[in-house]
Amino acid sequence: MRTYLVTGGAGFIGSNYIHYMFRKYKDTIHIINVDKLTYAGNLENLKEVEELDNYTFVKADICDKEAIRKIFAEHDIDRVVHFAAESHVDRSIKDPEVFIRTNVLGTAVMLNCAREAWELPDGSYREGKKFLHVSTDEVYGSLPDDPHAFFYETSPYDPHSPYSASKASSDFLVKAYIDTYKFPANITNCSNNYGPYQFPEKLIPLIINNALQGKKLPVYGDGKNVRDWLYVDDHAKGIDMVQEQGRLGETYNIGGHNEKQNIEIIHIILETLLEMLPQGDPRRELVSENLITYVEDRKGHDRRYAIAPDKIRAEIGWEPETMFKEGIRKTIAWFFEHEEWMKNVTSGAYQKYYQEMYQE
Ligand code: NAD
Ligand code: DAU
Repeated sequence: MRTYLVTGGAGFIGSNYIHYMFRKYKDTIHIINVDKLTYAGNLENLKEVEELDNYTFVKADICDKEAIRKIFAEHDIDRVVHFAAESHVDRSIKDPEVFIRTNVLGTAVMLNCAREAWELPDGSYREGKKFLHVSTDEVYGSLPDDPHAFFYETSPYDPHSPYSASKASSDFLVKAYIDTYKFPANITNCSNNYGPYQFPEKLIPLIINNALQGKKLPVYGDGKNVRDWLYVDDHAKGIDMVQEQGRLGETYNIGGHNEKQNIEIIHIILETLLEMLPQGDPRRELVSENLITYVEDRKGHDRRYAIAPDKIRAEIGWEPETMFKEGIRKTIAWFFEHEEWMKNVTSGAYQKYYQEMYQE
């Protein structure tokens, strides 16, 4: 049985990845999920798998070398899939240090512990061991409003926010381990994800949640910044395919050519909510374009992201399966069915963050 060490598996993409992997590989894999459970980590996301014999949860900080070393000592780990990070750009602008600690130091600890457990005296590695570092397209910086400009694996790094700078640093550490120690790793740089379990500080769940409550829909700047949206299961599939079929040492960009301006996204969400809410549902009265409120722009706001997924398609055969219209309906349906989840994650600390962030 192959053993996976997944970091940050209680977060948005990590929990979707764990569900994806159990759907695909069933009881032929063992997943050990190590997560510190920050505000973004939520074990409710994993309720359906927590009783499985082949699933283990370890509450630990990836910066805690002894805790991570212990996991490698107690289990023969075959694959590391490293999601754990501070992930929200706005929070990184307010408080960069925790991003540097978790995203840079935490990645260094993961690399060191994996190398320690996997490297043989002659500098080669134990058969079949692989590390995948989950990263972002934000490391490439910002593209002009030119529909022919894309991020490629060869694009120069040019991060602007403390978040993207910390992810770029972590990517460079992985690249350094590949070059220096021939460490068996891959990096994936993915575009914006959306789907179930996404924390409502991010644009899509924030807009869904606010619209259903008749709260303002904050649009940064002119609303014309472009993001390239990918349904989270397609990202999970891409990570698995890269780890199994990718050439070791290589970077693969993951994105589905689904670029949209933020304001377009908001209009699509409002239209879809009105299509999906049944007649007579009181929330229909609340959902309205009048809620759209232009607010101060994000500092250093990147204008446009767009991934060219040519390499992953050509080498590995990855294609996205869920088109945006279907993905947004699935996402909204999930939020309709998980009102309690939304209530739980938006209470307490999140309310305080929201009030400070949006002065409400
Ligand atoms: P998230 O914020 O939803 O989840 C992060 C998880 O990491 C949480 O469960 C949190 O508890 C855990 N964590 C944070 N600090 C930790 C620490 N010190 N030790 C152990 N666990 C810790 O993030 P996400 O959106 O699921 O993103 C996951 C990864 O994917 C990140 O590395 C992010 O950079 C990358 N990524 C995200 C997107 C996106 O659109 N969300 C796109 C591309 C890449
Ligand atoms: O591109 C991949 C990245 O996508 C990931 O690496 C990050 O972890 C993830 O958070 C995401 O970053 P963004 O900054 O692009 O996502 P966010 O949802 O925060 O914002 C999307 C766009 O919407 C961005 O242009 C800012 C804008 N926005 C966001 C919020 C929260 C608004 O206009 N209003 C808002 O209230």
